[in-house]
Amino acid sequence: MMHIPALLLIFCAVYATCHEDRRPPEYIVNLDLPEEQRWNAVVADFKYDAILLNKILGELMPKELVPLVEKIASGLDDYLPKPFAGEIRGIAKGLGVEVGEVLIPNIVYDLTAFCTSIVAQDSHGQIWHGRNLDYKYTSILRNITLVAHFQRNNKTVYSAVTYAGYTGILTGQKPNYFTVTADARHKSDDFWKNAILAILDRNASFMSFLIRQTMEESLSYTEAIVKLGYSVTIAPCYYIVGGPYRGQGAVITRGRMRPRDLWFLNPNHGRWYLVETNYDHWEEPPATDNRRAAAMKYLNATGQVDMNDTTLFKILSTPPLLRSLTTYTTLMSAAQPDVFNSWIRYKN
Ligand SMILES: *[C@@H]1O[C@H](CO)[C@@H](O)[C@H](O)[C@H]1NC(C)=O
Ligand SMILES: *[C@@H]1O[C@H](CO)[C@@H](O)[C@H](O)[C@H]1NC(C)=O
Ligand SMILES: *[C@@H]1O[C@H](CO)[C@@H](O)[C@H](O)[C@H]1NC(C)=O
Ligand SMILES: *[C@@H]1O[C@H](CO)[C@@H](O)[C@H](O)[C@H]1NC(C)=O
Ligand SMILES: *[C@@H]1O[C@H](CO)[C@@H](O)[C@H](O)[C@H]1NC(C)=O
Repeated sequence: MMHIPALLLIFCAVYATCHEDRRPPEYIVNLDLPEEQRWNAVVADFKYDAILLNKILGELMPKELVPLVEKIASGLDDYLPKPFAGEIRGIAKGLGVEVGEVLIPNIVYDLTAFCTSIVAQDSHGQIWHGRNLDYKYTSILRNITLVAHFQRNNKTVYSAVTYAGYTGILTGQKPNYFTVTADARHKSDDFWKNAILAILDRNASFMSFLIRQTMEESLSYTEAIVKLGYSVTIAPCYYIVGGPYRGQGAVITRGRMRPRDLWFLNPNHGRWYLVETNYDHWEEPPATDNRRAAAMKYLNATGQVDMNDTTLFKILSTPPLLRSLTTYTTLMSAAQPDVFNSWIRYKN
């Protein structure tokens, strides 16, 4: 006779409607190990879905660029900074695929991550930072979402919510220093080409690599803003940054070479939160995708006094902020690193 849980499992497999939100699994990425070995545990656990995703994303890339990707893959150390070349090689070896196949998703997420990020200061001066990451291929991405704690000497230097096989960071916290999320800006048609040419020119960072480098190197909220704002990136994007002290919240609107705009919290003048989705904050978003107005409405209704991780989670769990494309929700607070928490979302 069949157990109830087994029946439930079949029901879920057929209708995919009864998934509960769940916490992503957590891994330690030991920075004291050689780059090639750091992701071994992750690769072993997520092999099937990671390979599947690489194949799907590989199909998206214009065919004429394949030779260029192969060129980069064959000289990875020349084209990518440390530690990315070694880590990508290690992941490819673990998955048993070509280096180019692991390289592609690291580029693709740069183009198309659609998101909502909020940074807010409560009435005690604490900064809260939350985000939803929305993306196509939601089902696979949910399956490979994980939390990585990057450690040296057994101590966490920074943490990220990420996807298996991905070496950059789109959502990260350097405890007691700063928190960062990235949202995509303007998807142009020749993005692929520009991105790959920038890599071949060796003078531009992937937007997610730059966050990881900032987590490694920057020792304050201000340093993080300068690094994220002024390094050359392969694509325009938004960086949303939170710090441990009052007033420390910013949205950096990036052009490729420099910031197009820096927008800061200004709680003394009533600007106690910033909302960034995927549109420049000084322009009206399209009426068909006004997640910004919805977020502002919910934040206004919550109020600065009641802002905390519970209320921020509630806001990020309300449509249209939570949508069928949402893969995960993360909450952070640089001053109180234990707040760092994520949920894989199953709004089908
Ligand atoms: C994700 O994982 C679930 C549960 O293991 C599985 O049923 C589903 O097919 C996976 N989705 C994809 C796209 O691989
Ligand atoms: C880290 O912890 C492990 C197991 O707890 C221990 O074997 C190892 O020596 C520690 N490494 C460092 C660098 O402290
Ligand atoms: C790389 O730098 C060179 C020299 O500064 C510049 O001419 C070139 O346009 C840059 N390439 C990219 C893709 O930014
Ligand atoms: C939220 O409150 C601000 C400040 O009072 C106001 O400018 C804005 O129009 C409000 N937005 C929404 C959507 O309620
Ligand atoms: C967050 O704020 C709400 C509304 O004021 C309150 O009910 C809740 O207890 C607070 N939660 C925490 C963890 O402080």
